[in-house]
Amino acid sequence: MLSHKDNELLTRVGAGAPMGDLMRRYWIPAAFSSQIDKPDSPPIRVRLLGENLVLFRDSEGRIGLLSEYCPHRTASLFYGRNEEGGLRCVYHGVKFDVNGACLDVPCVPPGSNVKDKIKAVSYPCIERGDLVWTYMGPPEHKPEFPDLEWAHVPASHRFVTRHVQECNWLQGLEGGFDAAHLSFLHSGLVDMRKGRTDHDRRIVPSAYEVLPLDFGFVVAGGRELPNGNMSWHVDVMLFPFHKIIPSVPLGAHIWAPIDDENTMLYSINFNPERPLNDEEMEREFAWRGIHTKNLPGSDYAEANKSNDYLIDRDLQASGRSYTGVIGLGVQDCAMQESMGPIADRSKEFLFVGDAGIVRIRRLLLQALRDLADGKPLIGMDPRGYRVRSFRCEAPPDRSLEDICRERLSVEPAVAAE
Ligand code: FES
Ligand SMILES: [Fe+2]
Repeated sequence: MLSHKDNELLTRVGAGAPMGDLMRRYWIPAAFSSQIDKPDSPPIRVRLLGENLVLFRDSEGRIGLLSEYCPHRTASLFYGRNEEGGLRCVYHGVKFDVNGACLDVPCVPPGSNVKDKIKAVSYPCIERGDLVWTYMGPPEHKPEFPDLEWAHVPASHRFVTRHVQECNWLQGLEGGFDAAHLSFLHSGLVDMRKGRTDHDRRIVPSAYEVLPLDFGFVVAGGRELPNGNMSWHVDVMLFPFHKIIPSVPLGAHIWAPIDDENTMLYSINFNPERPLNDEEMEREFAWRGIHTKNLPGSDYAEANKSNDYLIDRDLQASGRSYTGVIGLGVQDCAMQESMGPIADRSKEFLFVGDAGIVRIRRLLLQALRDLADGKPLIGMDPRGYRVRSFRCEAPPDRSLEDICRERLSVEPAVAAE
């Protein structure tokens, strides 16, 4: 369990909240590049860390992310005209460039210098890995863009989707590193013999370790094998909201907070060496893995909270699915959202298998203290992100730290785009 105070500290992401300020020290995904694919294409709305913003691509292809509210009298710039190097508010015609500088104030008499005094709130943007990313923190602390392996590979080597999770970001992140749920929530087959539970127990990890590293931490679940070795499943957490998944093809998630009670979950599959093939793409388009099928033109999954994730009770009763809910991503969403918009962690009763979750919370609280104390933050070196999750077998006396030192690092195969 967690005190109410610590729960608030970890979950609130608005400007001025400790976690909100910490998140603002890192690059965060704002949208797909394809949503503003052409110069002067219509602006789109973006909500990030509790702020309403508009994203647009100007006539030269430069990207701007401005506060949605025009600094004149706060009308929405979403309705603006994107033309000739800037976004023009349609209320009184004031125009701004991608940096928020005012280019024109047609509603005042000639000779006025008000143009030089008014400025729109703007955040710098960069395009990487099919996404537009932004940095919303103090300009003097802007880090280099992290060397995420999946963002380095050519577009054909990766598949990126996103959907809204109707809950706080931490429920998503904790779910992503919850080693104990895999054999239950995502299990396809259930032993239907009454009273039989050994089956499930056998596949629960017997060791959990969380190892802090300079990019974030790794969470490892270990099982003893009949030959005496340990089988390790090592998941990488990159600060402040990334996960790398040791699947085939490799995977990744980003839990980008929309606000305190909503999160945009980005899901990625990628192959560092070759394009994803037809078979792999067909599998993804069956929507049974980490990607969810969304409602047409929407960031909301077809199976969502409002329809109980299309749970099929007959399927659940048949034993062919533990949940009766189809798709790993939807199953995760169902459980994480079912805890409420912001889980009340003061009401928890934790088990030994939750040790990793407890450790993660402590590390996040430590990061908040480091920020408050002006200490160096985790994950500021872009090269620290050149790591990959993995599974391996190792002798029982080999420490997780040694294993990670040998296995984690990866050089990006392809130069940044
Ligand atoms: S409110 Fe935007 S120009 Fe007046
Ligand atoms: Fe899961």
